[in-house]
Amino acid sequence: MNKDLVRDFNEQINQEFYSAYLYLKISVYYRERGLAGFGSWFLAQAREEEEHAVKLLSYLAESGQRVELQEIAAPDVEFDGLEAPLLAALEHEKAVTARINNLYDFAFTYKDFQTADFLTWFVREQREEMETAAWLLQKMKLFGADAMGLYQLDKELAERK
Ligand code: FEO
Repeated sequence: MNKDLVRDFNEQINQEFYSAYLYLKISVYYRERGLAGFGSWFLAQAREEEEHAVKLLSYLAESGQRVELQEIAAPDVEFDGLEAPLLAALEHEKAVTARINNLYDFAFTYKDFQTADFLTWFVREQREEMETAAWLLQKMKLFGADAMGLYQLDKELAERK
């Protein structure tokens, strides 16, 4: 693999762990406010991000490349109200999508078609991630201001395994 591509892969591994951290922070935020369903939904999301990191890490290792684990930054964000974490999550997923698209683009630039093929899974996953984040924000905008609506939404989110 191209050295620059390996470096960017390693950065993306770190970013996926950062995503997990961000979602843990959001999970805690909702739990502290009595919204256990939102809390468990974002806990599951954090675990999914760790899986993304391990998927990237495994690909590097199996390709005989050096995996470099870097320091994970603390999420530098405070939330002002119940809608704010969902907006932050959507914005974050948009940024991750841009990063994945860049990685995909680099793989083609370096004519590393195997890596591009591997990254296709992430390209598709990001579409789903952004759709889900937008869906959650929309639901909160529609029902979040009403106590019963919020209660039902929290119950719905608690069902995610
Ligand atoms: Fe790893 Fe939420 O994308």
